[in-house]
Amino acid sequence: MASVTYDKATRIYPGGEKPAVDALDIEIADGEFLVLVGPSGCGKSTSLRMLAGLEDVNGGAIRIGDRDVTHLPPKDRDIAMVFQNYALYPHMTVAQNMGFALKIAGVNKTDIRTKVEEAAKILDLTEYLDRKPKALSGGQRQRVAMGRAIVREPQVFLMDEPLSNLDAKLRVQTRTQIASLQRRLGVTTVYVTHDQVEALTMGDRVAVLKDGILQQVDSPRNMYDKPANLFVAGFIGSPAMNLVEVPITDGGVKFGNSVVPVERAALAEAQKQGDTRVVVGCRPEHFDVVNGNGGGLEKADADKEAGLAVTVNVVEELGADGYVYGTAEVGGETKDLVIRVGGREIPEKGSKLHVVPRPGETHVFAVSSGARLT
Ligand SMILES: Nc1ncnc2c1ncn2[C@@H]1O[C@H](COP(=O)(O)OP(=O)(O)OP(=O)(O)O)[C@@H](O)[C@H]1O
Ligand SMILES: [Mg+2]
Repeated sequence: MASVTYDKATRIYPGGEKPAVDALDIEIADGEFLVLVGPSGCGKSTSLRMLAGLEDVNGGAIRIGDRDVTHLPPKDRDIAMVFQNYALYPHMTVAQNMGFALKIAGVNKTDIRTKVEEAAKILDLTEYLDRKPKALSGGQRQRVAMGRAIVREPQVFLMDEPLSNLDAKLRVQTRTQIASLQRRLGVTTVYVTHDQVEALTMGDRVAVLKDGILQQVDSPRNMYDKPANLFVAGFIGSPAMNLVEVPITDGGVKFGNSVVPVERAALAEAQKQGDTRVVVGCRPEHFDVVNGNGGGLEKADADKEAGLAVTVNVVEELGADGYVYGTAEVGGETKDLVIRVGGREIPEKGSKLHVVPRPGETHVFAVSSGARLT
């Protein structure tokens, strides 16, 4: 096992103007599960393929442990990769698929059989060892692909969207299995997904990429609680954080009738950047409803209530709770907002809800740079 270091690693594809991966800097600890996440085209697969040796590195370096592998061929890197499409050999049995890399490496038959059986036990595949891939379910095929990586006992696992061919329910089951398997084996793992829920639930740490540039690398908790910039704030969390641009006022910023306190230094920083406005963020679950469901109030009375008046357009009921999709006047403009309410406090469509952002649960970002100010 080993640590993995991306040291300002850059990939520029031939004919490309800007790098697909731009000076990527991440240190992944021995045994850590790191998830690379970001929208399509942000450079996740390229980053992984650079580590695998399947893509040239045009600047910077990549290290596994203290070995500089930047220009080493894939076979000398001691890594095993699991792809989205599994790439199983259709004419081979499960056991042959799992043992193939060992056979190529010249390992003797008995040792291969032992390793394959061990891996099959861990992955619950023992009874399928003699079947061909076409006689397996998607989830079982996925586990064979994992098995093929495990038997090689590599220093690093690389996984590129290994769950994307599975249906929603199996995805959720399998992601738990992979995460617990990884913890049990303790093999350093770099895992790519575009699904932020998968990233938050599986990773020890999560790295968010956008346009080839690393935005933030942090624990799932910190990523959610303290997004480093507007992009991460909007990308991590579902439904997304409400983000509203408002003017800076004395001692804070005004969000409807509530003044969100912001450190003076942060406001000064925004103003230094030439901004007169900032973006305030509040997650759907961080609003307090101050008027119950608003049903019994006359419109004029409702408007006078404290907090921000939100007109309810759509309600999504999920049983335990619900999401209200509404509109409100904030900073002189009509804004769309999403607010989480309890499952027993679902408001009527068309009614008004008065909400206040919970103190200490708001985020403030600079308009010009997008950087976090609070
Ligand atoms: N072989 C290639 N030649 C030229 N450009 C490429 C090549 N492969 C990828 N790119 C470009 O590099 C950028 C990053 O691609 P990459 O495949 O790493 O994205 P990704 O984050 O894995 O996206 P997805 O979620 O869609 O898989 C994209 O703009 C893509 O068009
Ligand atoms: Mg990809």
